[in-house]
Amino acid sequence: MAGRAIGKGAWAAASVGAAWLLLGQAAQAASPTPPMGWNSWNHFAGKVDDATVRAQADAMVKSGLRDAGYRYINIDDTWEGARDAEGNIHPNAKFPDMKALADYVHAKGLKLGIYSSPGAKTCAGYEGSLGHEAQDAQTYAKWGIDYLKYDLCSLGPSMQAAGSLEKAQAIELAAYEKMGRALKATGRPIVYSLCQYGFYQPWRWGTSVGGELWRTTGDITDKFARMIQIAESQAGLARFQTPGHWNDPDMLEVGNGGMNAIEYRTHMSLWAILAAPLLAGNDLSAMSPETLAILSNRGVIAIDQDPLGKQGDRLRQEGPLELWVRPLAGGAKAVGLFNLSDLPANMEVSAAELSLPGAAAMHDVWADKDLGRLKTFHAVVPGHGVVLLRVARTGD
Ligand code: GLA
Repeated sequence: MAGRAIGKGAWAAASVGAAWLLLGQAAQAASPTPPMGWNSWNHFAGKVDDATVRAQADAMVKSGLRDAGYRYINIDDTWEGARDAEGNIHPNAKFPDMKALADYVHAKGLKLGIYSSPGAKTCAGYEGSLGHEAQDAQTYAKWGIDYLKYDLCSLGPSMQAAGSLEKAQAIELAAYEKMGRALKATGRPIVYSLCQYGFYQPWRWGTSVGGELWRTTGDITDKFARMIQIAESQAGLARFQTPGHWNDPDMLEVGNGGMNAIEYRTHMSLWAILAAPLLAGNDLSAMSPETLAILSNRGVIAIDQDPLGKQGDRLRQEGPLELWVRPLAGGAKAVGLFNLSDLPANMEVSAAELSLPGAAAMHDVWADKDLGRLKTFHAVVPGHGVVLLRVARTGD
């Protein structure tokens, strides 16, 4: 946590050296569409254990979320135990046998993710990977891990002690690159998720250290205002994004109870337009039909997972009324009319504003309803709500 005292986006990563770039060019797109899955932190935090993880894997299959595209079951912080005399990391008592857990998750057609820090300690004060990067990567591969979230945490103080921003940044980049290389050296495909809260504009250098995704902000909370604050801070980032490498505005809060269904649909719609990872953060074993319907909406997931792999951006903002647009494969567009005010509002969008000639075929994604060929679409959008459209060029 201490690392966050350094100002967000304090400077551009202009000093990234040639070696970083070479490593980035060599990288394959391990995650050609944004990762989908579940992560333990938002709901379970320090309470996550082996039984919880198995129950989430069971629920992911039983609920149909696996078949909707969710794959990763990601254990966040607090699984870590002590190192043995050889320096090998072991899980703590909450996780008796990590390899057996991975086997269990894999047998369900799912993948298992884990968490560590480039510092000596994780954010929750558990054992980090500092000085043991290659060894930990090998251990993860041996267990059958498929995804690593690598969280800056206690590396922050040594960066602050570095004396200059350039030196601090160099420490951070070297630490992330070290684990990136260590993961590659295992020969096992392990998705590499950088978590450093958007410091030093990771969208400019994340790929070059081997990352498939990187956090762009501080932590989300289960509150509408915080979720929107995070989404707003993503405006302008689409131009830095390339297919296979994803800006990560943090995990989903859908179903955790702090927002209503209208607000959770807004959350999900924004994340889909942003080509964000869809990592559910609720208890999948005890979710309401409404939560499941929001997480599993096929039209919204199809936007998030669109094969063009391009993030969307804000096209227009008039006070609390915002129009966000994402380019989709085949010249289609995902269009979100967001009303961030408390009261219903009239909103509209025209085909011309979307640079589509004539009338365009419009589909209301949440209502799953074809609206026909329209030159202009009007709607009354509820307070805190969205109308999400898939708009296709019709050519006339
Ligand atoms: C940081 C991260 C969170 C979570 C916690 C765990 O706050 O940003 O997503 O991983 O650490 O301690």
